[in-house]
Amino acid sequence: MRRAAVARSEKAVDLPLQPLDLVEEPGEVGLRQGRSDHVLGEKPGHLCELQSSVLERLPDSSPRRVEERLAQEGRDRDDGPAEPLAGFGPGETPGLDRHADGVREVDSPLPSRDFPGLAHSTGRLYVRTLSDVLASIPRSLLPRQMNHSRGLKPGASLAPGSQKTGLADCQGPDKRGRKDTMRRKITVVGAGNVGATAAQRLAEKEMGDVVLVDIIEGVPQGKALDMYQSGPVEGFDGKVVGSNGYEETAGSDMVILTAGLARKPGMSRDDLLKKNEEIVAACTAGIMKYSKNPYIVVVTNPLDAMCEVARRVSKLPKNRVVGMAGILDTARMRAFISMETGYAMSNIHATVLGGHGDTMVPLPRYSTIAGVPITELLPPEKVAAIVKRTAGGGGEIVALLKTGSAYYAPSAAAVEMADAIFNDKKKILPCAAYLEGEYGIKGLYVGVPAVLGHGGVEKIIELKLTAEEAAALKKSSDSVAELFGLLTC
Ligand SMILES: NC(=O)c1ccc[n+]([C@@H]2O[C@H](COP(=O)([O-])OP(=O)(O)OC[C@H]3O[C@@H](n4cnc5c(N)ncnc54)[C@H](O)[C@@H]3O)[C@@H](O)[C@H]2O)c1
Repeated sequence: MRRAAVARSEKAVDLPLQPLDLVEEPGEVGLRQGRSDHVLGEKPGHLCELQSSVLERLPDSSPRRVEERLAQEGRDRDDGPAEPLAGFGPGETPGLDRHADGVREVDSPLPSRDFPGLAHSTGRLYVRTLSDVLASIPRSLLPRQMNHSRGLKPGASLAPGSQKTGLADCQGPDKRGRKDTMRRKITVVGAGNVGATAAQRLAEKEMGDVVLVDIIEGVPQGKALDMYQSGPVEGFDGKVVGSNGYEETAGSDMVILTAGLARKPGMSRDDLLKKNEEIVAACTAGIMKYSKNPYIVVVTNPLDAMCEVARRVSKLPKNRVVGMAGILDTARMRAFISMETGYAMSNIHATVLGGHGDTMVPLPRYSTIAGVPITELLPPEKVAAIVKRTAGGGGEIVALLKTGSAYYAPSAAAVEMADAIFNDKKKILPCAAYLEGEYGIKGLYVGVPAVLGHGGVEKIIELKLTAEEAAALKKSSDSVAELFGLLTC
C-alpha cells in the first residue's frame, strides 16, 4: 500500500502500527493507519478502530453529511481543509481537516479501494475527532471493538490477544445499560463439517474474530487461513485463526462446541456418549482455562447430554450453556411444510419440543403458515407425514450422504443462536435449555422455546400442551434422563 506524506506536530509520537495498540501520549488525536483494514486514532480513553466495512456505512463520510456538518460549523468545504495527502489525487485520498480540534498528525494513506466509504466526491474526509464520528454511528453498527471508544480506561492495552487487559477493562455498561462494549471473539471447537461451516458463516457475517480449534494438526490452521483469504472477496474483515490448543481462544465471548465423533458402525449409542463426553469435557476444560465467562453453544451429539457435560465442567450458570437442536429441527419442519404447500419458508413457523433425537415432539398445532396452524390447512395424513419426516430429518441426510451427517443447516442454526445472543435480539428460538421445573421437568436439558438475548437463555416459554403432547414430551425427557444417568463427569 502506498504511504502518504505525514503532517506531524512537534508533539507527534510514533504510533505503533499494530492496530490495537493504545496511544499513550495524552492529547494525541488523529487518524493513523495501523493496517490496511483499520484506521486508528485518538487519545487515551478514546482509542478507536474503524473497520472498512463499518466505514462504508459511516453516515458522516457521505458528501451530504460532510456538507451538513461543515454548514453547522459555519465553515465551507474549501475553507482550509487539508490538501490531499501527497501521492493521492482528489477522489482518491481522504484527507483530514486539520482545522479540527487537536488534530496533529495525519498518517492515513487510505486508497479509496480499501475504504470505499471515504471515497466521496471531495476525496477528503472531514472529521473533528474520530469519537465525534463514532458518536454519530448507531451503536448497533459498531463491532464491540469500536464501542470501547466510550468505555476504555486510559492506560488499558488493546493489543491483540491480550483481552484480559483491554477487553476486561473496557467492559462497562453502555448508554443502554448493556455490557457489550468490545469486539467479539468466538471460538469454534471442532473444525469438521459443522464447525468449519459455522466458522465460515460467523466470519462472513462479521460476528467477531473467529478461532477454530481441532485436535488434528494443521486442519484448523489450514481451514482458518483459507477462510480468512476469502475475506477480501466476500468483503469481511474479521480475523480467522486456527489452533490445536486453547491459548488462542483466550477471552472468548462465545464458544460453539462441535468437537466429537460421529457414530461408527458397531458403536453403541452408549459408547458414543462415553467418547463424546470425554471430548466435550476436555474441550470445555480447555476453553474455561482461558475464558472466564463465555456463552457456550453446544452442538455435539448426543446433544442434550453434551450440554450437561459442558455445564458441569464449565461450572457456568445454566443460562450461558445452551444446546443447538430445535432451530435445526424446526427449520427442517418449515422446509417440509414449504415443500408440501409451496408457501415461502419465511411465512412458515414451526415448533418442536423435546430431546434431540427420535423422540423429539414436533407440534403441528403450534406450526403455522402466516399465523394459521397447519392442522387447519393440511389434511391429517400430510401433517403426520411432515411430523415423521421432521423426526427423521437427520437420518434422511445421513442416508443420502453415506458418510457424515448434515452440516449446512446445523451450522446456520448455531450461528443464529450466536447472533440472537450477541445482538440481544430477545428472539424466541427452540433450544436445548436447562430446565428447573418448566414443563414439569427438572435438572435436564430439553428442547423448549427460549428467549435468547444478552443474558443467554433469558426465559423459557411454556406452551400449553394437550395431554397427548405432554405425554410425548415426558417420553422424550425420560430418554434424555436415561442418557444423563450414564454421564460420569
Ligand atoms: N445438535 C445438532 O443438531 C447436530 C447437527 C449436526 C451435527 N451434530 C453433531 O456435531 C458434531 C460434529 O459434527 P460434524 O459433522 O462436524 O463432525 P466431523 O467429524 O466433521 O467433525 C468433528 C471434528 O471434531 C474434532 N475433534 C474430535 N475430538 C476433538 C477434540 N478432543 N478436540 C477438538 N476437536 C476434536 C475432529 O477432529 C473433527 O474435525 C457431531 O457430534 C454431530 O453428531 C449435531
